[in-house]
Amino acid sequence: TMLSVTCKAPVNIAIIKYWGKRHEELILPINDSISMTLGTNELCAKTTITASEKFQHNRMWLNDEELLFEEDSRLMRCLKGVQRLAHINGSQEASLCWKVHIASRNNFPTAAGLASSAAGYACLVYSLARLYGIPLTEELTTIARQGSGSACRSLFGGFVQWHRGVLDDGSDSVAEPVASAQHWPNMHVLILVVNDERKKTSSTTGMQRSVTTSQLIQHRVDKLVPERIANLKKAIKARDFQSFAEITMKDSNQFHAIALDTYPPCVYMNDVSHAIVNFVHTYNKTTGTVHAAYTFDAGPNACIYVLKENVAKLLAAIQKVFPTDSIDTVEYLRGLAVSPE
Ligand code: DP6
Repeated sequence: TMLSVTCKAPVNIAIIKYWGKRHEELILPINDSISMTLGTNELCAKTTITASEKFQHNRMWLNDEELLFEEDSRLMRCLKGVQRLAHINGSQEASLCWKVHIASRNNFPTAAGLASSAAGYACLVYSLARLYGIPLTEELTTIARQGSGSACRSLFGGFVQWHRGVLDDGSDSVAEPVASAQHWPNMHVLILVVNDERKKTSSTTGMQRSVTTSQLIQHRVDKLVPERIANLKKAIKARDFQSFAEITMKDSNQFHAIALDTYPPCVYMNDVSHAIVNFVHTYNKTTGTVHAAYTFDAGPNACIYVLKENVAKLLAAIQKVFPTDSIDTVEYLRGLAVSPE
């Protein structure tokens, strides 16, 4: 009369950024994106779902606080989506009709603004799939996508491409693994958590505003992103860090240029973020070859892609240049995939 599962899902860091939707509710993007998934031992979401015939209502807790489980919410769309998939897969389980209690927790400060929704919704959808006995497929990523766009990429480990797709129902807007974490095992990420008090425009609102007001965004979508996706995949296949780094930094800069071209502008990076950009370029120049590549999402924190053999030297240089009051914490991470607990 009762079923329960617990799963973990990791954060992913976009290398080519998703920014802008062509369908708000289905969460269909206007461009492809590629990210790397980090390890579940570090930054991750952990979710326990219990289904019982005794439960009267669906309920959800995030970091111990109860949320409203609204009929027309992203949460409900994910729940119904996985239940529908279970039906299609031929499941006759009575448990499909039972109400669920969902408890989710992030093992990192939500305030750090680090893609918590990506790990959270990936974890939710993966846990539901385990609960109803559904395998992890590309179709499952279309459901995670409806929780938060970037969440669909966190269902797979390693390097992952989210295809924008062309169909109106979104069935071809799926995430697909490009290369496993083992393919480039010495690829690591440093996360510099930058102190910041300013209230940021959420990704959802910011990208809506960019789509309606930015004059640069269409050129990015039509021409620049497709070229970049092809070149990045080549760089990943060849484990070519130089090319990888250049594409990563250029795409981060371009995304923030689009954010500034939005009206009113979305300002996500602060003075410390810009100092980190300068530092990385100077550092790469002094080492004679490119050892570090920064990227920034919709906030001031820096993610720095760096090969394992170069981590210690880079860390030492960062600690020399940045006083501890401008950077809160430095996390050192490595990638894998969703897993049952
Ligand atoms: C800048 O996935 O959080 O991190 O789909 O509206 O939930 P919604 O947005 P979200 O946007 C992430 C934007 C980004 C770039 C990226 O992760 O690709």
